[in-house]
Amino acid sequence: MDWIAGKHRPFPTHIQIQTTSACGAACQICPHPVESPNWPNGLMGDELFVHIVSQLQGRAIEYLCPYLMADPMSDRRIFDRVEALRQALPQTTLEMSTTGLYLVPKLADRLLESPISELRISSHGISAAEYATTMPGVDFAKAMPNIERFISAWSAHKPFKLSVVCLWGLWPADREREIEAFWKEKGVELSKWRVISRAEQVDLTIYGEAEADPTPYHEGKQAPPYLCRHHRDTQWLHILSDGRVTLCCMDYRHEEILGDVREASLEEIWNSEAFEQARARIRGDAPAGPNFLCDRCEYHVSRSVHEQRALEAAP
Ligand SMILES: C[S@@+](CC[C@H](N)C(=O)[O-])C[C@H]1O[C@@H](n2cnc3c(N)ncnc32)[C@H](O)[C@@H]1O
Ligand code: SF4
Ligand code: SF4
Repeated sequence: MDWIAGKHRPFPTHIQIQTTSACGAACQICPHPVESPNWPNGLMGDELFVHIVSQLQGRAIEYLCPYLMADPMSDRRIFDRVEALRQALPQTTLEMSTTGLYLVPKLADRLLESPISELRISSHGISAAEYATTMPGVDFAKAMPNIERFISAWSAHKPFKLSVVCLWGLWPADREREIEAFWKEKGVELSKWRVISRAEQVDLTIYGEAEADPTPYHEGKQAPPYLCRHHRDTQWLHILSDGRVTLCCMDYRHEEILGDVREASLEEIWNSEAFEQARARIRGDAPAGPNFLCDRCEYHVSRSVHEQRALEAAP
């Protein structure tokens, strides 16, 4: 595979488009509520959206998220935009992720009819007290009935893949088992994502002593060569709502801007010197400079650790 050789393909296969920078959930586990008031960008204009989609049409895009560091359901035009993406990219996996805040019946019905491939519902707990600590902008008393109603309507036809995402490592193990049983009983897949500091941008100490990370990744910064364990630099392209291209979905402070769709094509940006330099800094082949985003990120690991993990996971 290309990423093993540290090479990137001629054009990205995975895309994130920030059609809006808004989100009302105010999660404590996410840098959005602290950083987004400083952002100069808001809703993506139609002209820019069409300009981007026209460059993706005909390309072998495997996976596309019409969101980035915000919530797609806070974009009123999201359903039209998803339709446009589906027309342009009939084979691509279109994935959306949201919370119970936005799954009110009117929006839920439209979502069920939209041509997405996958929906993830973020729910970091199953009680009002847990929501108050993790997602204080989401009213549990409304959100959980929204989610339950959605799952029930989805179950009738299962028009796309559905899962609930719950961050793992926040609660004691016995509580995590209860959370697991809760979603199993509802007949929906649960994705247990290890909580991270998002490049030292969220304070996880408020959740107390974390359970030991069972993966070898915490040993990750042993020695170069390094890689981004999610291949954000070699497979993915991340476009902000004003057209700037950022290194990845951790860049809540816009530290690593690599180009601008209003000034250059996606292909030019992807193959630019700025992008190549970022890849070299990630690999450890070029000086990273002080406080480099990836150096603060849990997903930046020694290749040896990553390969060890892959070997352990092999059947
Ligand atoms: C940034 S959100 C954007 C989409 C949408 N607003 C949502 O929350 O589902 C994308 C994913 O990042 C996850 N996430 C947020 N903070 C995280 C953290 N500290 N560690 C791991 N994943 C996190 C969320 O749970 C969500 O599944
Ligand atoms: S994790 Fe998602 S829902 Fe929560 S604040 Fe961040 S973008 Fe919003
Ligand atoms: S290592 Fe972290 S910050 Fe760097 S590209 Fe990957 S996900 Fe982004």
